[in-house]
Amino acid sequence: MSILFTRILGTGSYLPDQIRTNADLEKMVDTSDEWIIERTGISERRIAAPYETVTYMGAEAAKKALEAANISADEIDLVICATTTAEYAFPSAACEISGILGMTDTPAFDLAAACAGFSYGYALAHSMILSGACKKVLIVAADIMSHACDPTDRSTIILFGDGAAACVLGESEEEGTIAVHISADAKYGPLLNLAYPKRGVAVQDHLWLYMKGNEVFKHAVLVLSDLVSETLKKGNIDSSQLDYLVPHQANLRIITATARRLKLDMSHVIVTLDKQGNTSAPSVGLALDEGIRSGKIKRGDILLMESFGGGFTWGSALIRY
Ligand code: ACO
Repeated sequence: MSILFTRILGTGSYLPDQIRTNADLEKMVDTSDEWIIERTGISERRIAAPYETVTYMGAEAAKKALEAANISADEIDLVICATTTAEYAFPSAACEISGILGMTDTPAFDLAAACAGFSYGYALAHSMILSGACKKVLIVAADIMSHACDPTDRSTIILFGDGAAACVLGESEEEGTIAVHISADAKYGPLLNLAYPKRGVAVQDHLWLYMKGNEVFKHAVLVLSDLVSETLKKGNIDSSQLDYLVPHQANLRIITATARRLKLDMSHVIVTLDKQGNTSAPSVGLALDEGIRSGKIKRGDILLMESFGGGFTWGSALIRY
């Protein structure tokens, strides 16, 4: 029997305890609470402690997603971890997470798509299930972006926070995932990048995240505007049928521009960036889990998830939850 559909079986998330407020940032760099709120919409973000690695946070989020899906780890056929800030090149964070969950022969690998990581993981999991290769896929997304930013650079340190999200996608007889889309355009790589530390050299400068913020902003608004329209068209859904937009949480001005394009009132948009900042790969997954656990998103709701990040990379998923 060919597999017709995929749907979300459960979601989970993890946020570090430590909070960095705008008042904390006023003591670190030349900025103000007013500027950060007006230009980004962010009030506070979570900062990982040394033990809160990508693997640790990812595994905690994964345990909650498995619990929500009411399945055990041995039912998972593939583990994908979207991250660009894992501790090791290998073993991958996905391998480590599979080990923590007690898996011994489940394929696992990391996926690098910056802020579009969750959308990429979702699209890949969807395809793997539709191909018949897997029945259930665990998508984890986790990042520690706060450690990648120069603590003296006010243009980036104010934006990013840390966290992890997870989602179990499974085969289904009823429609869940309606349409997915992923894309990349390498010519914009120089506007937003994070280098690996150089190996084999005695002295090395720390290589911080670089972002030409206002240029990235303009592209993000344009790309996301096209992305949401094309995804709705692909799924044959009108924006008036959407229950929630679950957007990448980079900047409230980008989110409101996308909502305007969809003629969607902000009461139909899940916003978490005020409390979390931009967490990169897990951002959309964290918003999805927050929407579900807060009771806003209910089974049967039509959701549009979208994200945009370094590469440039971007992706979306239109689903019936
Ligand atoms: N506090 C006070 N002033 C600041 C701060 C700050 N924290 N940061 C910058 N400024 C100043 C600048 O120095 C500049 O001053 P000047 O006019 O005297 O030169 C002024 O504010 C305007 O700077 P812009 O960079 O033009 O500010 P902008 O309104 O564009 O906001 C921001 C900057 C918030 C970074 C915005 O451009 C943005 O959100 N960009 C998109 C981010 C994004 O979507 N990233 C993609 C995902 S990230 C990933 O993939 C890892």
